[in-house]
Amino acid sequence: PSLNSSGTFVEHVAGNPNESLSTSNPTISIDRSGLCNPPEHSHEPTSDSELVKHLKSIIKFRGGPISVAEYMEEVLTNPKAGFYINRDVFGAEGDFVTSPEVSQMFGEMVGVWAMCLWEQMGRPSKVNLVELGPGRGTLMVDLLRGASKFKNFTESLHIHLVECSPTLKELQHRNLKCLDADDTSSSGEKKTVSQIAGTPVAWHAAFEQVPSGVPTIIIAHEFYDALPIHQFQRASRGWCEKMVDIEEDSAFRFVLSPAPTPATVFLAKRCKWAVKEEVDKLNQIEICPQAMELTESISKRISSDGGGALIIDYGLNGIVSDSLQAIRKHKFVPILDEPGTADLSAYVDFEAIRHSAGEASDNVSVYGPITQSQFLGSLGINFRVETLIQNCETDEQAELLQAGYWRLVGEGEAPFWEGPEDKVPIGMGTRYLAMVIVNKNQGIPIPFQ
Ligand SMILES: C[S@@+](CC[C@H](N)C(=O)[O-])C[C@H]1O[C@@H](n2cnc3c(N)ncnc32)[C@H](O)[C@@H]1O
Repeated sequence: PSLNSSGTFVEHVAGNPNESLSTSNPTISIDRSGLCNPPEHSHEPTSDSELVKHLKSIIKFRGGPISVAEYMEEVLTNPKAGFYINRDVFGAEGDFVTSPEVSQMFGEMVGVWAMCLWEQMGRPSKVNLVELGPGRGTLMVDLLRGASKFKNFTESLHIHLVECSPTLKELQHRNLKCLDADDTSSSGEKKTVSQIAGTPVAWHAAFEQVPSGVPTIIIAHEFYDALPIHQFQRASRGWCEKMVDIEEDSAFRFVLSPAPTPATVFLAKRCKWAVKEEVDKLNQIEICPQAMELTESISKRISSDGGGALIIDYGLNGIVSDSLQAIRKHKFVPILDEPGTADLSAYVDFEAIRHSAGEASDNVSVYGPITQSQFLGSLGINFRVETLIQNCETDEQAELLQAGYWRLVGEGEAPFWEGPEDKVPIGMGTRYLAMVIVNKNQGIPIPFQ
């Protein structure tokens, strides 16, 4: 690759379209050690946010563009200024709404799923219940409240929340009605107990830090879609990675890599799992190496310790082409616009999850994906909504429940919506998919029997 005067890649090399897949160099590595908080060298007047300055510093010091994955990771989880780090982004006042925030029934149904799995696991007396990216903690609150009558189940639970945001961690602590005990555990950590069902709760920065050796149930709702993706585009010289660079006027822009990048290894791996015709008709491909690696860790844990994982997210059961989106205050905005002020997310490639699980262990089975509507329907959400509506004291409460039910399992725009037209809710029933990974010895999990 060559650099132009502004230090950005410009070379366009003609070549065999498939070349970059077969000639990738898996040994390329990037030394980021000097990039933690590089000093700002430019003297241009700027009202850039801390995060924008940070991203520009990385690009300048690197002497070239960064991958979309690195951009996404910084934008979402930069420890100082990432989108998730310092604020509550959920609900009507926030940027987007997730299923647990739509209705209590979502967490309750996931609780039914977890309890049935626990039965199949042989009712172990100690279980790690792990939630990846718990947001406000609403799903776990509803799960525990719904399951609190089933003492054998709740008494077995040790909750482990994997969360990168200190702000959301505090919110989870509050919503789960956690109390910090005065005494500390043998590891020196403070013991925290949720008063909802008397269950111990611990927080971790990554799934790998959750203690192993105990049967484990894992829930990942809208977590995979926040993992950084790499984008590739078909060019005359083959598959090129889409990168983020700075223009002369200092705005961010997309460029294409002139040569194979380290992520090309994962592109080649993903394409091997697909049929040739599927790849041939695509001009863009997104891959998520972190999703592949996380699935491998989850599968190995389930294989060795027993248990299962439930992954619910929006996505496809096949290669994802071009899905990265930015959402601010419930509206789509350009991906490079004011980074750190909008959520970035991408469709989850469920087929890649299935293959990653299969490659990680022979001792796990993967079921689905099925639609969220099928998943919640099979677990009895119809009966649950009827019972709740019967117990409502006001018509308003009943309407809210019905609207929440429709939003979770419905498809398209709400049929009974009477609010402003630009705010008409879209059902999540078929756009969201559910997949389950379980230890083979436990048989077929619900709702796949
Ligand atoms: C889209 S939100 C989903 C929240 C919640 N599951 C829900 O459905 O309401 C993503 C969650 O994952 C957390 N998160 C995102 N990336 C993470 C990472 N790399 N490590 C740990 N937590 C992460 C966010 O802080 C947030 O809690």
